[in-house]
Amino acid sequence: MTPSQVSTVINDPASVDAAIESRFSARAFLPREVPKATIADILRVASRAGSGTNTQPWKTYVLTGESRNSLVEKVCAAHDGISADPAQAAQYVEAYDYYPEKWVSPYIDRRRENGWSLYGLLGITKGDKAKMNAQRKRNFVFFDAPVGLMFTIDRVMGRGSLVDYGMFLEAIMVSARARGLHTCPQAAWNGFAKIILPHIGAGDDEMLVCGMSMGYADVNEKVNSFHTPRVAVEEFTRWLD
Ligand SMILES: Cc1cc2nc3c(=O)[nH]c(=O)nc-3n(C[C@H](O)[C@H](O)[C@H](O)COP(=O)(O)O)c2cc1C
Repeated sequence: MTPSQVSTVINDPASVDAAIESRFSARAFLPREVPKATIADILRVASRAGSGTNTQPWKTYVLTGESRNSLVEKVCAAHDGISADPAQAAQYVEAYDYYPEKWVSPYIDRRRENGWSLYGLLGITKGDKAKMNAQRKRNFVFFDAPVGLMFTIDRVMGRGSLVDYGMFLEAIMVSARARGLHTCPQAAWNGFAKIILPHIGAGDDEMLVCGMSMGYADVNEKVNSFHTPRVAVEEFTRWLD
């Protein structure tokens, strides 16, 4: 970082806030391509994210064109296989517990509210398994985004590196917003690591952290009007004077 960068004044804090606050998980994208140079820029900016002792534990795979399409085909086939025969799910295991083993309040309440609000918007009612399944499958076509990202980490790294990873992922999503793009981070892919890792050429020493869809959001699709609430600052903060 140059001395002039150290003293950079953000003249327009509203733009930074707008990039953060206009980020949401987009679940419908236009077929419009994203220039490779733009993706590279986003990744370069995001790589400024901090990490413990500057370990930078992120490894990114960018899938477009044939590599994206053939992964979509393989994972959709696996997803359909599970739908037809749920016993097949046993062969797809997540490498790390993204969610808790035992759900407790208030997290389970938020999770339920989130799920039912999205389903409600899409007209999916309780028990309509076919529609739920179809919505879940949308993950595996990257919600039609032309860019799919896969993120891995060396298995030897500790839990702290996943904290670092989260910063990197958020920086990607915010930097994408600054360029008119939207994203959807996706843990849905995690169970399919045994298909994804060989497909992207990741070594056995790598663990899949998550996937991400990236592209230009289709603002006319109802699903993209789904914007989630947050608890108030006063609710999650204790001020200790
Ligand atoms: C690491 C991570 C994984 C996620 N995985 C999925 C996913 O697989 N599919 C999906 O539709 N949304 C996924 N989401 C999106 C969350 O549901 C979303 O962030 C949350 O509901 C808050 O909404 P917002 O992102 O629109 O602000 C994921 C989010 C994160 C941060």
